Amino acid sequence: MRRILIKKSKKLKGEISVPADKSISHRALIFSALAEGESNIYNLLFAQDCISTMNCLKSLGVEINIGDDFVKVYGRGISGLREPEDILDAGNSGTTMRLLTGVLSGIPGIFSVMTGDSSLRRRPMGRVVEPLLMMGAEIWGRAHSNLPPLAINGAKLKGGKHTLKVTSAQVKSALLLAGILSDGETWITEPAHSRDHTELIFEYLNLPLQKEGLTLKTHGVDGYKAKDFYIPGDFSSAAFIMAGGLIVEGSKIIIKNVGLNPTRIGMLEILKEAGADIKILRNYELGKESAGDMSVEYSKISSFEVSGDIVPRLIDEIPILAIIATQANGKSVFKNVEELKVKESDRIKGIVNGIVKMGGKAEEIESGFVVYGPTKLKGAEIDTFNDHRIAMAFAIAGLVAEGETILECESIKISFPNFISMLQELGGELVELLS
Ligand code: S3P
Repeated sequence: MRRILIKKSKKLKGEISVPADKSISHRALIFSALAEGESNIYNLLFAQDCISTMNCLKSLGVEINIGDDFVKVYGRGISGLREPEDILDAGNSGTTMRLLTGVLSGIPGIFSVMTGDSSLRRRPMGRVVEPLLMMGAEIWGRAHSNLPPLAINGAKLKGGKHTLKVTSAQVKSALLLAGILSDGETWITEPAHSRDHTELIFEYLNLPLQKEGLTLKTHGVDGYKAKDFYIPGDFSSAAFIMAGGLIVEGSKIIIKNVGLNPTRIGMLEILKEAGADIKILRNYELGKESAGDMSVEYSKISSFEVSGDIVPRLIDEIPILAIIATQANGKSVFKNVEELKVKESDRIKGIVNGIVKMGGKAEEIESGFVVYGPTKLKGAEIDTFNDHRIAMAFAIAGLVAEGETILECESIKISFPNFISMLQELGGELVELLS
């Protein structure tokens, strides 16, 4: 098992660019695979989750060439995927499994079985399977079609009207993809706004989409033309670096070319309100996405509350927000965050256990947890539950803790393969252990 040792560090300083956005990378690959013609994807994320999507698409007959400057995808047309010869492996990636379930359900003549690693095999798929069944999909899985592996017999779907029970961009995207493969109209209403990358790609590719409040409407199409994609850096990866800059005394970091899509940056709103010195230095458009450069400086932060409709806009940042809360002044509350229990690990458990193990004060409450700060953390051996975001959050905590923090780091390759070297470059004291 690969592990890292982290020590209390002096200031983090420098200018960096984080790897490309994971959510947009998955979508760029899938939409390019279903397009007519070739797409060049610039700055695609080469991390394990996106490699899982790439491998699944290759098994479905899509040719993908990796060049020096871009990845070329040879689109097979909207229903041109080929039946895979073997089981598709989504690895650790919920986005791969849920979005591809939407696609594969709607292509008649293709039978497929999709599985994943032990983490993905315990994550709920009913949220995507149930609405797809209502559209005429044929899907089977463990636990009454709630758990992978899923077996999918592609069928001609009919549209449908869906009111989602959970706010999930993965479910919304799976249904939008199924919607363009269906006869008739598909309506989707979410409880709150989730990330809208799929909707922006629909607009970019001129696919049919109407938006009204929380409701989206699309309909079946015969095909669409390929277009190139330019992917900004991942705000969710930048969040870890930002947090390091905020809590390690004397730090100043510039993060360049990072995605600033409003449905992704709830963390900025919370932290600015709490007194964080974060500035957007430049803001520009990349396709339909917003991107820019930002600066982060060490700041004294007051406690904050995360709850309600902002939660989906910072859902992946909660582990690192919890670490920031250990250094903030007062009691920080995280409510309505139950979804964390069905992420790559039970993140509420991972966060609370880890903070307590480092001598901080945190406890689980009804729909989330609370963290009391500021606390002087002390180094500890942390259980990451093989979850990349738990691992990176506690690596950042280790930078301000007295003594040594040790944790598994294999999982980090899921989203941020050069996380360790980037922190080292900024002055963070961490090394990979040899045994
Ligand atoms: C994602 C949506 C979110 C997020 C995940 C990526 C996406 O999941 O947590 O990391 O790319 O659509 P949910 O749809 O389960 O909320």
